Amino acid sequence: MSYNLLKGKKGIIFGALNEMSIAWKVAELAVEEGAEIVLTNTPVSIRMGTIDELAKKCNAEVIPADATNPKDLDELFTKSMEVLGGRVDFVLHSIGMSPNVRKGHSYDDLNYEYLKKTLDVSATSFHKVLQSAKKLDAINEWGSVVALSYAAAQRTMYEYNDMADAKAMLESIARSFGYIYGREKRVRVNTISQSPTMTTAGSGVKGFDSLIDFSERMSPLGNADAQECANFCITLFSDLTKKVTMQNLFHDGGFSSMGMSFRAMHQYNKSFKLCDDCE
Ligand SMILES: NC(=O)c1ccc[n+]([C@@H]2O[C@H](COP(=O)([O-])OP(=O)(O)OC[C@H]3O[C@@H](n4cnc5c(N)ncnc54)[C@H](O)[C@@H]3O)[C@@H](O)[C@H]2O)c1
Repeated sequence: MSYNLLKGKKGIIFGALNEMSIAWKVAELAVEEGAEIVLTNTPVSIRMGTIDELAKKCNAEVIPADATNPKDLDELFTKSMEVLGGRVDFVLHSIGMSPNVRKGHSYDDLNYEYLKKTLDVSATSFHKVLQSAKKLDAINEWGSVVALSYAAAQRTMYEYNDMADAKAMLESIARSFGYIYGREKRVRVNTISQSPTMTTAGSGVKGFDSLIDFSERMSPLGNADAQECANFCITLFSDLTKKVTMQNLFHDGGFSSMGMSFRAMHQYNKSFKLCDDCE
């Protein structure tokens, strides 16, 4: 059922790789709720993934951009305003990647060139998107920018590696830029801290199945899935949340407020035998 929450609004959605992507669900729902959108991803992800299928479904143009490249971002905002016929009202930053995770470097054996890439792709790119949008005055007053984060920004999660540092920085950028963009242009900037979700980026994390199972057992409402994350994003793009800014909003079924749940305790009690190398 559509509520027409985004009727007449225009937006740019970063990060739809395939139909498992959180950005894919956000794009579909934004259009269902009345928005016109532009989709973007890196040229290689456009080739490897299935974004063209989504574009057809959403009647949207795909404009390639590497979110770490300010020139690409300037071109993206300029072209999007041409295609959509004016400034945009919302932007979704749904981007993450760690070469250290991909290549199996543990957190106490980081490759620092890879770390730079992790931070650039997964965090600084958010600053670059905001800076380019502001410079080109590409977002309407009361517009909304959302990036996707994860609870490892606050708490150590085994094997989340240098992505934890990237997410902490991402959330900080939302506050620092949110202050300036809010004060000068009334644009709001937030991050959503989403439950672990089975996507291409998510499943790259070692032990991801166990992480999903653990947080499912810990959360009173269970994990939030990609479709539910899309629902939440749409509320933040809508006019119903105009005074919400500079926040990291947990969308995790209650996980972030839990210490121990009955379901997790029950599972844990099944075996107290420690594995040899567990510390
Ligand atoms: N899946 C999860 O468990 C989970 C949980 C919390 C937060 N998140 C966050 O959600 C966001 C979306 O991830 P997802 O789970 O949908 O996975 P995904 O793999 O579908 O999306 C990640 C996207 O980032 C894009 N990307 C990578 N480098 C880029 C660059 N230089 N420029 C532009 N785009 C680039 C990829 O092409 C891909 O489309 C990420 O920020 C991720 O960290 C995911």
